[in-house]
Amino acid sequence: MNKMILELKEICKNIKLLFVEDEKEARESMQLILKNFFNEMIIAKDGEEGIKKFNNDIDLIITDINMPKIDGIEMIRRIKEKKNVAIIIISAYQNIEFMQKSIEIGVDGYIFKPANINLIIKTLLKVCKNIKIKKENENYKKHLEILVKQKTDEILHLNREIIKTQKEIIFLLGGVVESRSKETINHVKRVGIFSGKLARLYGLDSYKVFLIKNAAPLHDVGKIGISESILHKPGKLTNEEFEIMKKHTLIGYELLKNSKLPILKTAALIAKEHHENYDGSGYPFGLKGEDISIEGRIVALTDVFDALSSKRSYKDDWEIDRVIEFIKENRAKKFDPNLVDLFLEDLNEFLKVKEELKDEF
Ligand SMILES: [Fe+2]
Ligand SMILES: [Fe+2]
Repeated sequence: MNKMILELKEICKNIKLLFVEDEKEARESMQLILKNFFNEMIIAKDGEEGIKKFNNDIDLIITDINMPKIDGIEMIRRIKEKKNVAIIIISAYQNIEFMQKSIEIGVDGYIFKPANINLIIKTLLKVCKNIKIKKENENYKKHLEILVKQKTDEILHLNREIIKTQKEIIFLLGGVVESRSKETINHVKRVGIFSGKLARLYGLDSYKVFLIKNAAPLHDVGKIGISESILHKPGKLTNEEFEIMKKHTLIGYELLKNSKLPILKTAALIAKEHHENYDGSGYPFGLKGEDISIEGRIVALTDVFDALSSKRSYKDDWEIDRVIEFIKENRAKKFDPNLVDLFLEDLNEFLKVKEELKDEF
């Protein structure tokens, strides 16, 4: 018995109790027993007071059934709507109807009146052990949830960092290439933004839009493999030189094609196809219409739009009306007609980006 009492004391010290009893004598004598085990105990004199005094920290209710105002069964039913708390009933009833009701509302233990101390301790021990296990499981679950959230946050943070790094490297690489070919860093940035916008207008899903936006700045990465004498030649290229220049598409593709990174895979495709023309007159393969990837068709338009409308050390910028005229003339020739329509419909949006990301000389 002593062993059981010690065990019960140990288990109950972290369990918060609500004890409800309307008979003063019974309440006081039971209170004397219970306070040996429970450090935290709230007392209520009837069902109504029990409901009022209940709070979410309470783990166990020990209650009488036959009480004025609100009886024990009704009180338990209302409290269980808020929390599935453990219940021990102290009652003189032992009939079938009463037992059925108490099973329905989920009672964990019974102490039948007149209660003897042995029965009280055995019942408390059984119910409180279960509460302890339940609390430990809940704590473990909470701990796991916190851990999972921490890890998820860490991974998300890491992912964001990786994407940020990828973007920075792409701009840097794109910028190096473009400056070598007398373009500006803002040209590659604008082509990225324009291409993302056009991809969205075309109805591509947000992941594809993301890939195109971030891969487009690398469209001319293959110019790394073209000699400076050709890249920087003032005036027109000879046929032979132009044939060499055309190779920047395939050089770029070869550089990027084996990457496992989705952005760089997209960049490989764009490098290869950004000089293909819708009517089949482009290079390197003379692909036609929708045989050219949507990525290639988008960048073909945004790159030319930005190049023509921007001032370079070797050329003046075209008036915007002249650029629009050129794009219209090349609808279904150089450019995908659907993309031209979408682009012109939202022209102001594109011009706004151009204004915000001006070249600095
Ligand atoms: Fe190019
Ligand atoms: Fe370009």
